[in-house]
Amino acid sequence: MNLLEKLKCLLTFGQGVALPLPDISSETDPLTLFDQWFNDAQKSGILLPESMSISTCDTNGQPRSRMVLLKEYNTDGFVFYTNYGSSKSQELEANNKISLLFHWNVLQRQIRIEGEVSKTSAEQSKRYFHSRDRGSQIGAWASKQSSILTSSAELKDREAFYKKKFANLPEIPYPEFWGGWQVKPSYIEFWQGRASRLHDRICFEKHNNKWTHFKRHP
Ligand SMILES: Cc1cc2nc3c(=O)[nH]c(=O)nc-3n(C[C@H](O)[C@H](O)[C@H](O)COP(=O)(O)O)c2cc1C
Repeated sequence: MNLLEKLKCLLTFGQGVALPLPDISSETDPLTLFDQWFNDAQKSGILLPESMSISTCDTNGQPRSRMVLLKEYNTDGFVFYTNYGSSKSQELEANNKISLLFHWNVLQRQIRIEGEVSKTSAEQSKRYFHSRDRGSQIGAWASKQSSILTSSAELKDREAFYKKKFANLPEIPYPEFWGGWQVKPSYIEFWQGRASRLHDRICFEKHNNKWTHFKRHP
């Protein structure tokens, strides 16, 4: 982030529309618009603009939300990485519906995405796993994500165990219990804050592999 962007971040905070609204024509593709908004968020100076809330439902219909990092997006969908044994992954195994939420407060923008998940290929997960620093790779082995800790030392002990186990290996092996989920969107809604709470909501729905769009009252 350069100085100008830092200043823009400070000056626009809470003061309404920071960047002009895009024109939405019938040809506008929501992924292109997502890409524009994501780039605006990256340029705005927001810390971790790629962080998003993901919501899943457990088998009792109880919704659960937590933050993860968006690592890739393209016409095939939005990808995040996690432990496949975690609560979120177990919930997604039982019910592949998910909702994602981005909020970029400086820009007064929100994006809601709904869709269905599938696992990324083992090759893709492996490639991403090995792009991470060694500490995070060992952390993935050490964490039994979402399980109850049996003692406060358990996590450190497990980290020490895997550090030692892999000490002589140039490359940490890929853990098959860890990988990506790809979200294929069927609904994407762009929300832009406007004066007097007359906000813009532009919604895209996918039917028969074709996106249509409409606006909602704020
Ligand atoms: C900003 C932020 C980014 C995070 N990114 C990830 C991530 O990419 N993957 C992940 O598994 N957990 C991530 N976490 C931790 C999750 O929010 C969550 O605590 C963890 O995945 C366990 O969730 P679960 O028990 O519901 O499965 C992140 C947390 C924060 C605050």
